[in-house]
Amino acid sequence: MMDAKKQAAEKAVSFIQEGMLIGLGTGSTAYWAIQALGEKVKGGMHITAVASSVATEELAKQCGITLVDFTQHTQIDLSIDGADEVDAQHNLIKGGGGALLREKIIAYNSKSFLVIVSETKLVHYLGKFPLPVEIVPFGAALTIKNLQALGCTTQLRQKEGKDFITDNGNLVVDCAFETIKEPEILDAKIRSIPGVVVSGLFDHNKVSQVIVGRENGSVSLLIPEGFGC
Ligand code: 5RP
Repeated sequence: MMDAKKQAAEKAVSFIQEGMLIGLGTGSTAYWAIQALGEKVKGGMHITAVASSVATEELAKQCGITLVDFTQHTQIDLSIDGADEVDAQHNLIKGGGGALLREKIIAYNSKSFLVIVSETKLVHYLGKFPLPVEIVPFGAALTIKNLQALGCTTQLRQKEGKDFITDNGNLVVDCAFETIKEPEILDAKIRSIPGVVVSGLFDHNKVSQVIVGRENGSVSLLIPEGFGC
């Protein structure tokens, strides 16, 4: 059985060209992209990268990838990241690994954003995977109450018996909506709540390509209309 995530990641890395500034995602699928990019660097390719989390930063360094200070750059050539769910229009839920804020900044500032997933991440409608929302700790209980008023049940994310803290010093609330039929509208409502930093809803307009790895070893590049190819 082939590793579907690895197949998708390696395909995405094949689009990277000499001299590019690359956005690196976070998670078990992005892991394979970082490994594959590390191999290209060892083989003589010159690229620089920006990492979406401390974990990715450490992994990239281990792989010999040169990281840049992202406060100094305004445009990323290509970014590669996983997703928790991808709907038929290519809207995404991200943030399962808690790196949603930096991932969103990177994706939204990339000329090209490649999403790498195993076929198990493809859904008709988003929402089965609880939507991660990053919130500031100040007033957290009120912010959570305001999120619940949008029609979800919430879980304040925990890690090792403590509140999970993001790389930005914030909390994550996992919001179970079950079915999200209008992601853009829901994202706007969530963002209008004071205390919310960002939601894990990523707009399809920012997605250049969804690369799907399948367990039979095949890889599909999805067109925006749906999952037919
Ligand atoms: C991290 C993310 C990840 O891309 C997402 O959770 C998918 O992870 P994986 O590739 O491990 O399934 O958004 O914040």
